[in-house]
Amino acid sequence: MGAHRIGMKGKYVHKGVALFLLLGMMVWSGTLSAFQPPAYEARLDQGLFKYSPEFRAMADFPPTEGMIEQGLARFRQERGGHTCAECHGESGEKLKGVAAGYPKFDPKLGKPKIIEQQINACLEQRMGQKPLAWEGDDLLLLTVYVKALANGLPLHVQADGPLAPFVAAGERAYRERVGQFDVACRHCHESVAGSNLRAETMSTPSNRGLGEKEALVRAVLAADAKGERGKAASLAGATIGSGSAEHWPAFRLKWGKLASLQHRLRTCNQNVRVEPLPYGDDLYVNLELYLATLSNGLPVNVPGFRP
Ligand code: HEC
Ligand code: HEC
Repeated sequence: MGAHRIGMKGKYVHKGVALFLLLGMMVWSGTLSAFQPPAYEARLDQGLFKYSPEFRAMADFPPTEGMIEQGLARFRQERGGHTCAECHGESGEKLKGVAAGYPKFDPKLGKPKIIEQQINACLEQRMGQKPLAWEGDDLLLLTVYVKALANGLPLHVQADGPLAPFVAAGERAYRERVGQFDVACRHCHESVAGSNLRAETMSTPSNRGLGEKEALVRAVLAADAKGERGKAASLAGATIGSGSAEHWPAFRLKWGKLASLQHRLRTCNQNVRVEPLPYGDDLYVNLELYLATLSNGLPVNVPGFRP
């Protein structure tokens, strides 16, 4: 138990997150002996508060059940005479917690990389394989597995040092108006966060409300209990913040499938008639990095579940 110091760097850990941390560690230690990563926990998911009670109830038994085990099977699957397990431990013991620090700076590339890119780098450079296709079951489930090895631990992505210019580039992309509709990410995800846009409750990636989280959660639940859904959603969406990077890949009911954060970013671009960039494009990696810095302190909780 005492060995799990991953992500405990005080500067990123908000007071309000201490409870989550504790819960996460309990889940974590409970499964240590079998080296099985803890599963997604609805109660650790900040973003769920803005959705309806019906959806939140579904999240207790999400359609993602079993996906971590499917990821493990792929982790142990032989490809070109090698398996991920032969280098990283039978159940990935040696990768425990590392995903909480991703996206991470890659000195060889001179830029940040996301987990999917690291997995494909291992496949190409260490296993002599072709890279796996984006959004294919193999890459999604391996990503789920590696990230789930950090489930319950707070995201602690580096925002300074060599990553600073890339975080800044991500933030610029988040603020810049684009496309026919001339809107930026922030217009949908800050200005109208918590309200409904074409029947969808808008999230905000920021977790700036976490310090007062408990009081806010009580306010949300009280509004909810009185049937004041609009008020509950707007408090939850806009004030508490939802995080984003810590719960993707996620299963989206609307899409009926598991998808990566890269996929989410591409569809957000398409929503405003911006031609999406290729998966893993530098701009999307920078955006994912920026979003991750906003989610720092939230417990990794993969695979997520969204309406
Ligand atoms: C032959 C050994 C080998 C195999 C097989 C291998 N890796 Fe790796 N992996 C490494 C080494 C060495 C590193 C660290 C250096 C680097 O980044 O390349 C690494 C790094 C990683 C990291 C990042 C760790 C960190 O601390 O940031 C992840 C995640 C990872 N591998 C996942 C996988 C997955 C998933 C597979 C199977 C598809 C796999 N690896 C197959 C050797 C291997
Ligand atoms: C026209 C409005 C619009 C714009 C502009 C937009 N999005 Fe979205 N985005 C949505 C909607 C609708 C959803 C689904 C509801 C939700 O979760 O907020 C969503 C969901 C998301 C999510 C998932 C949130 C979660 O809780 O899982 C992320 C992350 C995200 N968007 C990031 C971005 C980024 C980054 C940009 C800019 C490149 C962007 N969005 C631009 C409408 C937009």
